[in-house]
Amino acid sequence: MRRPGDNTCGIRKGEAVAANLEKVVPWGRSLAEYVRMFDLSADDLESRFLDCGGGPANVNAEMHRRGRNIVSCDPIYEFSAADISKRIDETFHAILKATEANRNNFVWTEMKSPEHVGEIRMAAMRQFLDDFPLGLAHGRYVVGALPARRASSPCFRISAKSIRPTFRLSSTS
Ligand SMILES: C[S@@+](CC[C@H](N)C(=O)[O-])C[C@H]1O[C@@H](n2cnc3c(N)ncnc32)[C@H](O)[C@@H]1O
Repeated sequence: MRRPGDNTCGIRKGEAVAANLEKVVPWGRSLAEYVRMFDLSADDLESRFLDCGGGPANVNAEMHRRGRNIVSCDPIYEFSAADISKRIDETFHAILKATEANRNNFVWTEMKSPEHVGEIRMAAMRQFLDDFPLGLAHGRYVVGALPARRASSPCFRISAKSIRPTFRLSSTS
């Protein structure tokens, strides 16, 4: 049921817990990584798609560019692109350093090295930052946090949750 204040199929703008950007380490995957991580089919990508904890991934931007139907929610969307960008710049090298320090714990097949991870993730995050202001205005990005989020809205067939420790794909059909 839609309530006053709803903007997109039960996703309520402003119901998020307040996020503290200083405690957030923004790190965004590419759509290609989502496809592998959630084993998304072409049919999944054609469906109305809810990206829970979308963060600075390029998934919304890229799906929108391809004419797909997607909404992403995350508490960090209450901040501006400039603020998120600044936080990315502050934390990026520390993440790469930690990845390098733990490189033996990763399987290096798709990604060749920590530097390669950095290139792919930074390109994805830049695409997100470029898309975010307009997407926010159009309701493709929504400030919101689980579990308040009605992530199983019948308006969405596919719901991808990548919030630790949950990496899950739900389908309502
Ligand atoms: C590891 S990042 C993943 C970002 C993106 N989904 C990806 O895979 O590249 C996790 C994201 O979940 C968001 N997050 C944390 N707690 C959340 C909650 N309770 N509800 C929704 N998003 C949350 C964080 O702000 C962060 O952007």
